[in-house]
Amino acid sequence: MLTGQIVGTGSALPKKVLTNKDLEAVVDTSDDWIVRRTGIKERRISSNRQQEDTSQLAAMASQEALEMAGVSPEALDMIVLGTATADRQFPSAACLAQKYLGATKAVAFDVAAGCSGFVYAMYIANNAIAVGNCRNVLVIGAERLSSVANWEDRGTCVLLGDGAGAVILTQSTNNGGILSTHLASDGNSWDLLYSSDRQLDGSQLPEVLNEVAQSPSYLIMYGNRLFKKAVSCMASIATSAMEHNGLTADDIKFMIPHQANIRIIRAAADRLSIPMDKVYTNIDRYGNTSSASIPIALDEANRKGLLKPGDNVLLVAFGAGLTWGASIVKWSLASA
Ligand code: UT7
Repeated sequence: MLTGQIVGTGSALPKKVLTNKDLEAVVDTSDDWIVRRTGIKERRISSNRQQEDTSQLAAMASQEALEMAGVSPEALDMIVLGTATADRQFPSAACLAQKYLGATKAVAFDVAAGCSGFVYAMYIANNAIAVGNCRNVLVIGAERLSSVANWEDRGTCVLLGDGAGAVILTQSTNNGGILSTHLASDGNSWDLLYSSDRQLDGSQLPEVLNEVAQSPSYLIMYGNRLFKKAVSCMASIATSAMEHNGLTADDIKFMIPHQANIRIIRAAADRLSIPMDKVYTNIDRYGNTSSASIPIALDEANRKGLLKPGDNVLLVAFGAGLTWGASIVKWSLASA
C-alpha cells in the first residue's frame, strides 16, 4: 500500500513581536486578561517592510522542510497550501510559493478550510500519494491574520498572529506515515467565525501597528459559542481517528492541536484523557496562527527531538466553516 511519510518539516515566523503589553496601547485590555483567558503572551506580526506576506512565509518554511528532507524543489509534484489569508484573491498563495521556490514541476493550489486548512491539505496530499499520482508533495499552512484583524475589537485582535509551517510528504511502501485523516464540516454554523467587508473610514492605526497590512475584509468571531464547539468537535474527531486505527489515548505519544486558546486545548485533551505533558503548545509565543499553527508546532516538536520513529502523533484542528479534522501520523523521521 502506498502512503505519505513526513520526511521534512519547516517553519517561518515574522520578526516583529507584538506583546500583550503593546496591545494595551491598542485596545482596552491587559496582559493579565489575555494570559488568563487565552494563554497568549505574545504573537508575531508581519511587516510591510519585510518579505513576510503569506506566500513569502510559506516559501521560507518550505525551504527549511525541503532542506531537511533532502528533496529539491524540482522534485515536488504538488504543493497544497491551507490558508484563509492568501496575499491576493488570485493567484493562489501556493502558486506564488511555487515561484519563490522554483518548484517548476509542481501542481500548486490553496485549500480554504479556516484554521483546519493544514489538516485538510494533508488529506488531499496523502490521497494523491496513495493513488500513485504524486511522489513528493509539499503541504503548507500559512497565514497573515494580522491583515484581517479588527484592531478595535479587543475580543479578537489580541488572539491573532502570523506565520507558516510546512512538511514534505514522500511516497512510501513502508508501514506508517499518515495512518488516516478524518475531516468534518458544518456550514450551518458559518456565522460564528467569518470575514466581512471593512468600513474604510481612514482612521489611523496606533504607532505600534504602523507596518501592519490591512486587508479589505476583517474577522468577526462569536468566541464564546465557538469555544464550546471547538472543544467538542476536536475531541470527537480525535476519538474517531484513534478508534479507526485501534489506538487508545495511551498509544498517543504527542497531540499537536490547533493553537486557538490554551483553555480549549486543555479541555479537549482532558476529554481525550491525554495528559498535558503529551500535548505540544506554543500559543504563548505565537497566538492563533490559524492553519499555520499545527505545522509550526510540529516543526518545533521535531526540531526539539521530541518525536521518535514509531511514535503516534495526533494532529487535531478546528476552525471557520465550521471545519475540523484529525490525522494520526506514525512518525518516521529520525530526530532533526
Ligand atoms: O481558531 C479557531 C477558532 N477559534 C476559537 O475557537 C476561539 C474560541 N473562543 C475563545 O477562545 C474565547 O471565547 C475568547 C478568548 C475569544 C474569549 O474568552 P471568553 O472567556 O469566552 O470571554 P468572553 O467573550 O465571554 O468575555 C468575557 C469578558 C467580557 O466582559 P463582560 O461582558 O463580562 O464585562 C468581554 O468584554 O471579557 C471581556 N473581554 C476582554 N477583556 C479584556 C473580551 N476580550 C477582552 C480583552 N481584554 N481582550
